[in-house]
Amino acid sequence: MKLTYLGHSTFMAEMNGKHLLIDPFITPNELAKGIDVNSIRADYLLITHGHGDHVADAESIGKRNNAKVISNFEIVSWFEKKGLAGHPMNHGGKVSFDFGTVKYVNAVHSSVLPDGTYGGNPGGFVVWNEEVCFYNAGDTALSMDMKLLPLTCPKLDFAILPVGDNFTMGYEDALLASDFIECDKIIGCHYDTFGYIKIDHAKAKKAFADKGKELILLPIGKSLDL
Ligand code: NI
Ligand code: MN
Repeated sequence: MKLTYLGHSTFMAEMNGKHLLIDPFITPNELAKGIDVNSIRADYLLITHGHGDHVADAESIGKRNNAKVISNFEIVSWFEKKGLAGHPMNHGGKVSFDFGTVKYVNAVHSSVLPDGTYGGNPGGFVVWNEEVCFYNAGDTALSMDMKLLPLTCPKLDFAILPVGDNFTMGYEDALLASDFIECDKIIGCHYDTFGYIKIDHAKAKKAFADKGKELILLPIGKSLDL
């Protein structure tokens, strides 16, 4: 699969020829101004929770592409009222799509949509098919529930974890999370976008390297084949 970083917590995952856009927050992100939001293709929008820094461009990209929203019931209902199609889930549930299987898993955070609508409880996703399996944690603290992933999902090839601290876990807790989820290849997200979450890249990467693990902090716009 191909994974492209679009800044903050926004990723494009290409699986089985389908484009999965995760937590689109591009136009308000000064650091992502090199990304042409109008050229983004999406078959599905995976939304972890309702905060503005995860949904800002979802409606416009979703409508232009006729994309289907995959999230919890409350968030899918909100987007359906705006005219988007969706597939509602809730925690612990999994469902098969044409690109693979998605499981909506626990996150420890908060969630409200930009207009104040209740966003349900925040979550993360484990996504897999015959070729690859990855975890996108969403905004979350370190939690013991992460220990359930190796017991309930296929072996992870990589995981996208927040490392920016303040609103989510920082890199030290993300390092422990990588133990809990039994995955040594971590792609960082939710860092540097705002003053509160600026991190020291070298220090964070070294903490992982010292434990024989890898923390990848992708330049915005860069892709990886995984
Ligand atoms: Ni959030
Ligand atoms: Mn956030």
